[in-house]
Amino acid sequence: MNNTHTHNRNSNSNNNKMTGSLSNKMALGKSIKMYLTIFVATTCIYMVLYQYHLSRQPLTANEVVKPPLYIITPTYRRPEQLAELTRLGYTLKHVLNLLWLVIEDANKTNPLVAHTLDRIGVPYEYLVAPMPEQYKHTKKAKPRGVSNRNRGLDYLRANASEGVLYFADDDNTYDVNIFEQMRYTKKVSMWPVGLVTKTGVSSPIIREGKLDGYYDGWIGGRKYPVDMAGFAVSVKFLHERPNAKMPFKPGYEEDGFLRSLAPLQNSEIELLADECRDILTWHTQTKKNPPAQPFNATRYANTNLAFIEKWLVRP
Ligand code: UGA
Ligand code: MN
Repeated sequence: MNNTHTHNRNSNSNNNKMTGSLSNKMALGKSIKMYLTIFVATTCIYMVLYQYHLSRQPLTANEVVKPPLYIITPTYRRPEQLAELTRLGYTLKHVLNLLWLVIEDANKTNPLVAHTLDRIGVPYEYLVAPMPEQYKHTKKAKPRGVSNRNRGLDYLRANASEGVLYFADDDNTYDVNIFEQMRYTKKVSMWPVGLVTKTGVSSPIIREGKLDGYYDGWIGGRKYPVDMAGFAVSVKFLHERPNAKMPFKPGYEEDGFLRSLAPLQNSEIELLADECRDILTWHTQTKKNPPAQPFNATRYANTNLAFIEKWLVRP
């Protein structure tokens, strides 16, 4: 071998140099290929092993698929609307597996509302359901948010099979803990709502662990004197009650809807928020703001005000 090598070198050193560097290059090319192959193969094997490892790990609490929550929010155009939706939306953003059904009392959707919902980033469906004309022009109390909520029920009857529904007015305050508690409602669940009437709270009364009536500043002959923010209903149970709906009857919307879920035993009503010892929802009310005064488009042409203008509600 040594001989041959010497011989070769001696016989044609020039040619040898060339073939030598060529074969070196080829060898280098081959080993690069080999290392690349090994590298890619090893990476693939690691990835497969890691996936297998992950698949064997029990799911953490966050990854377990929870029953879906359907939050039905009536809304309507007014100076506070986008602010209210923004505040509620960022509360809902803390909740997993939730669909926000935003239903506006209007004849058509408003692109500014859609833009606000897009920016918040909570999964949503934006629908409209105008209040029937006959109620719009009455001087008496109006059935606020009723056509919106009934539209939400129709949506669920057509599109949902499991999970829980909850009527969340756009102006109330919600602790996110209540959403995790209501998620497992079998039929109907209830809990206290703060800032309702002169009693300061509307709540089921629990005596010796059992539902024993309701505490509320206004009973009004209702079987269920509860606030809209104080109960949730299972979607499966809603399917078993195809005629359940909310009446256009101011003050009696909650009562009428809950009555339409009959038969429902008191013992079937689940009591949340530490068996109604805690307050996790509040019937907050926003101060009414006057519509924005007219805008002088000539004086403020070519300024930022021309852009802000479109967000305002005018008289
Ligand atoms: C209270 C209850 O919390 C409501 O659930 C109930 O519908 C209402 O009384 C009633 O009995 O009429 P309150 O704070 O007085 O609610 O009413 P609003 O907050 O003004 O309206 C309730 C919901 O309906 C809100 O989400 C609101 O955006 C919506 N709404 C209100 C409409 O969709 N259209 C309207 O013309 C007014
Ligand atoms: Mn309200």
